[in-house]
Amino acid sequence: MPRLAIFQPDIPQNTGTMLRLAACLGVPVDIIEPAAFDVSDRNLRRSGMDYLNSVTITRHISWRAFEEWRRDSKSRLVLATTKGAMPYTDFQYQPDDIILVGRESAGVPDDVHVAADARIIIPMQTGMRSLNVAVTAAMILGEVLRQTGSFPIPSSTEA
Ligand SMILES: C[S@@+](CC[C@H](N)C(=O)[O-])C[C@H]1O[C@@H](n2cnc3c(N)ncnc32)[C@H](O)[C@@H]1O
Repeated sequence: MPRLAIFQPDIPQNTGTMLRLAACLGVPVDIIEPAAFDVSDRNLRRSGMDYLNSVTITRHISWRAFEEWRRDSKSRLVLATTKGAMPYTDFQYQPDDIILVGRESAGVPDDVHVAADARIIIPMQTGMRSLNVAVTAAMILGEVLRQTGSFPIPSSTEA
């Protein structure tokens, strides 16, 4: 199953939106700390994230810890970045890819940019700086799940 990794998140509402997205799509989430807010299970529950039971969250205390964990998993790291060269719809995803999104205030540092196996961009109009990080995650995960045939199979068509 593809995974979503969130790099040092700044804004709780964005993380909440991404966790809900991941819960609905069945995508596991990696949170790479430090975050600008308390990302403990207890605190996330306190903020009313009642869908937390449906998402698998792995917390990594640092970028280095995340990279050590990833070395064992052998998954590719695919960075979503406004400095990416490859349009996200042109990239060929694998079922165990990890999609990494950067922090709201600063994206990712250069060493993280370099460590990624691929860098992808959602093309935007000239002069536009960036998309909201949760919107980015939703668009890219949609393409990843479509390409890899990993969308959940709905048990019912009711809303
Ligand atoms: C608000 S943006 C960060 C903006 C930050 N000032 C920067 O220079 O990277 C937060 C994250 O959303 C993702 N993102 C936003 N727009 C994107 C786009 N058009 N293509 C790919 N990723 C994007 C990236 O992962 C980025 O690190």
